[in-house]
Amino acid sequence: MGGSKSKMMIMFIMLLIIFKSGWSEGCLDHERFALLRLKHFFDDSYLYDWADDEGATDCCQWENVECSNTTGRVIALDLFDTHGGEHSWYLNASLFTPFQQLESLDLTYNNIAGIERLSRLNNLKMLNLSRNSFNNSILSSLTHLSSLRSLNLLWNRLEGSIDVKEFDSLRDLEELDIGGNKIDKFVVSKDLSKLKSLGLSGIKLNCSILSSLTVFSSLRELDISETGFKGTFDVRGKPKPCFLILYMPTRFVYHRHNLIFNLISLNELHANLNTLLFTLSIN
Ligand SMILES: *[C@@H]1O[C@H](CO)[C@@H](O)[C@H](O)[C@H]1NC(C)=O
Ligand SMILES: *[C@@H]1O[C@H](CO)[C@@H](O)[C@H](O)[C@H]1NC(C)=O
Ligand SMILES: *[C@@H]1O[C@H](CO)[C@@H](O)[C@H](O)[C@H]1NC(C)=O
Ligand SMILES: *[C@@H]1O[C@H](CO)[C@@H](O)[C@H](O)[C@H]1NC(C)=O
Ligand SMILES: *[C@@H]1O[C@H](CO)[C@@H](O)[C@H](O)[C@H]1NC(C)=O
Repeated sequence: MGGSKSKMMIMFIMLLIIFKSGWSEGCLDHERFALLRLKHFFDDSYLYDWADDEGATDCCQWENVECSNTTGRVIALDLFDTHGGEHSWYLNASLFTPFQQLESLDLTYNNIAGIERLSRLNNLKMLNLSRNSFNNSILSSLTHLSSLRSLNLLWNRLEGSIDVKEFDSLRDLEELDIGGNKIDKFVVSKDLSKLKSLGLSGIKLNCSILSSLTVFSSLRELDISETGFKGTFDVRGKPKPCFLILYMPTRFVYHRHNLIFNLISLNELHANLNTLLFTLSIN
């Protein structure tokens, strides 16, 4: 009896220690130091409250930082437009390794040109690299981010041919935006079975590429705005330059040809600023 009582007492004390150190004390020291180190690579004036001032050492209270309510670990960093410089630069990914629980990293609009493998961020679910200067080599830096659900590469310097295969290791990917890049060939050689949202705005597309998107069995949102696509989507399919299901506000689904998009639950199709002519005929 006495033995189990003291065991319970020890467990209680341990729980108390975990609770106290993990939660009520605010952020962890090594994460605070890591944030202060990270700050040097960005513009101090944007991250002014990231400071080790007396009484402000809880980095979970700092702007642009979000911690977990339960563990006190940093789970989100919002570094949107915090660099300020005009020249593109290289960001050392090891600056982020202390944040082992990081789930969301927003690096939008910082003119970053390169980042080494971000592979140690095992919990990263959201990565926004939009409006930077990344070229195609960024794709190989991302291959081990197996928890990633959302990847935004809008408006970078990707060019030439992009094969969906390059995102193959990102098995949980649900959102991918590679619009606004000089991609002239989008190759679909592989299904990303969980992909719900695909952004291809401004990318050269033709009917055969559009038709190849049918493999994405979970796709619900497709952005093909500003693709400069000229042609007629004639859903009667005669002549048939392309096949398309039009989803009207009432979730109207047009299904006539086998080749027609099989995006059964597509909710949104952004196709503005194209020279498109939608011809709709129900029979
Ligand atoms: C964590 O705390 C914040 C601020 O009090 C609150 O807005 C948020 O909903 C909480 N999150 C969870 C998962 O409890
Ligand atoms: C990145 O930072 C780590 C740790 O400070 C260092 O060992 C490594 O050499 C750096 N990598 C580059 C390419 O500068
Ligand atoms: C792509 O970016 C990387 C990292 O900045 C750089 O080392 C490489 O030279 C670039 N490649 C091209 C073709 O510009
Ligand atoms: C970055 O991308 C994510 C996912 O696409 C989005 O939720 C977020 O708002 C974006 N951030 C900015 C600053 O646009
Ligand atoms: C569509 O574009 C791809 C990639 O540029 C090309 O290989 C293919 O021949 C084009 N198909 C048609 C029907 O124009």
